[in-house]
Amino acid sequence: MDIKSITMEIEEKVIEIRRHLHSNPELSLQEYNTTEYIYNMLKDTNIELQKCSSGTGIIGILNGRGKGPTLGIRADIDALPIVEETELSFASKNQGVMHACGHDVHTSVLIGTAIVLDRLKDSFNGTIKFIFQPAEETMQGAKYMIDEGVLKNPDLDHIICLHTWPFTDAGKIGVRHGAIMASANRFEIEVYGTGGHAAHPHKSVDAIPIAAQIVSSLQQIVSRKLSPIDSAVLTIGQIHGGTADNIIAKKVTISGTVRTLKTEVSENIKQSMEEISQNIAKAFNGDAKVNYYPGSPPVINDKQMVDLLAEVVTENLGESCLEYLEEPSLGGEDFAFYLQHVNGMLFRLGTRNELEASQRGLHNPGIIFDEKAISTGIITMSSFAVRYLNR
Ligand code: NI
Repeated sequence: MDIKSITMEIEEKVIEIRRHLHSNPELSLQEYNTTEYIYNMLKDTNIELQKCSSGTGIIGILNGRGKGPTLGIRADIDALPIVEETELSFASKNQGVMHACGHDVHTSVLIGTAIVLDRLKDSFNGTIKFIFQPAEETMQGAKYMIDEGVLKNPDLDHIICLHTWPFTDAGKIGVRHGAIMASANRFEIEVYGTGGHAAHPHKSVDAIPIAAQIVSSLQQIVSRKLSPIDSAVLTIGQIHGGTADNIIAKKVTISGTVRTLKTEVSENIKQSMEEISQNIAKAFNGDAKVNYYPGSPPVINDKQMVDLLAEVVTENLGESCLEYLEEPSLGGEDFAFYLQHVNGMLFRLGTRNELEASQRGLHNPGIIFDEKAISTGIITMSSFAVRYLNR
């Protein structure tokens, strides 16, 4: 039997799996039942299953007929702290937790892909590692899996993953060369004055006007210090300071996020932020400290992998099902941490249909993913793996 026929045969079962996962979401690093469930779904296959040491997260290893490369396929399995508002018959039974990023779809697509490839294991060489990763939403999971040794034994040659995408039709695959997701970083600037009586500003250092100058000067980093070719977002999301109307503020905290498509751009922004904050504070006898928290690096797709995917999609789903995405997303994705060690690709699984609820953004409490995407995901992943391993 071929990939498509097996996928059609198991589609209903995999949709049931997806609904079970959707009803029973678990937060990052608490995916114990999800891990157990994945184990049970795959325990009767030839896939060698290894649960991670903490009991959340699981790796499956499937060997083909002969020697060959090793491909990692990763699905994230965690949900979000969101109260679900979909009114689906299989809505979350875990109050306040929801699969609003589609990780239930990712997990079921990977389970389905594992079932398909297990049946076809004599048709490819090499090894597939199925990586069910916890805690993507908190950006902890990929590093955790790397610490668990997922890159080694056998060593990964490439790694791929998919992510649901409510801006592409269900049945289609979206991808782009180069950057597809941004580097997401956090910062916090502490501005220090001395405090004092509001009536005697000349006898103290006021942190508020210093902070105000820093806020407006930070706007010039993207417009005046970066190359116009490099894109970046610098958003200040919070500013807190002062204690009373008649007291000169001693401390102000400014915090926000920096998104870039290149790691070096993020480094440049950090440096400019320090120069601007410290020099402005110094000019008014105050002080400033910049805390910069690097998050995930950008996700940069490997050219060969994208070209191979394009071939596979065109051949198996048809040319009209391949969508080259014009823009990367400035969202962050911890899959980038694997890409610091091994080349790979993230692609988009379209989940949009004519219903408004399917067109809402990821993390929206009312988003409904079109389940037609599940078979598209399984066919694409399985065909990609076989093609890659037999290259
Ligand atoms: Ni996600």
